[in-house]
Amino acid sequence: MKKKIFQRDIIAGLSRKKKIIPSKYHYDYQGSKYFEKITKQKEYYPTRKEKEILKRISKKLPKMFKGNLSFCEIGSGAVDKIKILINKNVKFYFPIDISAKFILKASKNLQKKYPRLKIKPVIADYNRPFKIKNFPKTTKVFFFLGSSIGNFHSGDDVKFLKNLSKCIDKKSYLFIGVDLVKKPIIINKAYNDKAGYTAKFSLNLINIINKNFNSGLNIKNFSYIGIYNKKLRSLQGFLISKCKQLFKIGSRYFHLRKDEKIQVEVSNKFTPKSFKSLVKKGNFKTHSYWTDKQKYFSIFLLKR
Ligand SMILES: C[S@@+](CC[C@H](N)C(=O)[O-])C[C@H]1O[C@@H](n2cnc3c(N)ncnc32)[C@H](O)[C@@H]1O
Repeated sequence: MKKKIFQRDIIAGLSRKKKIIPSKYHYDYQGSKYFEKITKQKEYYPTRKEKEILKRISKKLPKMFKGNLSFCEIGSGAVDKIKILINKNVKFYFPIDISAKFILKASKNLQKKYPRLKIKPVIADYNRPFKIKNFPKTTKVFFFLGSSIGNFHSGDDVKFLKNLSKCIDKKSYLFIGVDLVKKPIIINKAYNDKAGYTAKFSLNLINIINKNFNSGLNIKNFSYIGIYNKKLRSLQGFLISKCKQLFKIGSRYFHLRKDEKIQVEVSNKFTPKSFKSLVKKGNFKTHSYWTDKQKYFSIFLLKR
């Protein structure tokens, strides 16, 4: 992560009337470890449901795609879900992630399990144009899982898809995991897990800020809450200041009032209809989609 860009983004977010920190800054090594813990919590249905759908898709893959395949996973994290899909036709795997140390370690472990698969981790910010060097001449299948498409603030999801449509040719495929609108209580429980890993994941941002900017913030002066906004169909995660605070980022001072919130997480939910509309705006076409039995989660297959 480039410190200059991080500083620019943090200052811009904290200068807003409603303070905000982009969620991609959660992911240092410790942040990625906490996220992995979140995915294993009982209340956190997205991972469980997405895996259920992926298992069904994996049975169809050999018929869907013939010949040699290259898998490219955007925001791959622990490279866990891809294991459900890897078959003998998959010759290359490109996991792309911002969390450098985590993705390198996860790729190394995956290599031990699949010694013949060519794994080439790419450390990049997927919000910026990225390129895979020497992409082999195979059918390319892209994945953007974990409902990461819901983690964009207004309009940035369309921008992301439009940019991606420039990196994906007409013969390639894109699978996207999409969390669906459901009863607020289920979403609220998922993002406020009992064991407190979502809170730890968000509070870790304070450590990251201190490490980078020597801001002297005390993690004990913050709490975390995730609240589902039914009208916006969006889960919003906040760090709440327990007291008045003054801190520095570079040469800029920031004040926090007691009970002032900093938004650190956004997880937008979709209906199949609203997602299809987003897909169109992003220059893709919906080829097909699957949901789990309870219709909590969906996976869309897109083409350009
Ligand atoms: C919500 S997690 C999903 C992880 C995994 N795909 C899954 O389904 O469990 C988001 C992942 O994307 C990565 N990430 C977040 N923002 C990113 C960005 N702007 N560029 C590259 N990777 C990013 C994080 O490091 C993390 O591994």
